[in-house]
Amino acid sequence: MSEPFRPYEKLVEITIYGKKFQVPERNSLLRCFQFISPETIPYGRFCWNQECQYCRVTCQLPDDEEATEMLSCKFIVMAGMEISELSQELRWCLRAKLPSDLPVSS
Ligand code: FES
Repeated sequence: MSEPFRPYEKLVEITIYGKKFQVPERNSLLRCFQFISPETIPYGRFCWNQECQYCRVTCQLPDDEEATEMLSCKFIVMAGMEISELSQELRWCLRAKLPSDLPVSS
């Protein structure tokens, strides 16, 4: 099996629903989710190609005033980013890794 991650030298820290994770720099956010949960993300309904929208997240970048929505298959991870909302598909795939007291998404 080929290595799914782009070459990286270090891990960077991101926050998802207040929980911190170390993920490989220079990779798309969706790849980073795969790094966090390699046994579920590859089986999610993701196109990896900016079409399905199932990878949508809301996140706050370190330099931004406000949270913005983005496609995680497109966005390259940035140290210090804080993800406050995940699509339902992502939540499902990452459920074992996230805080257990998350509100149920609509
Ligand atoms: S994985 Fe389909 S739009 Fe991002």
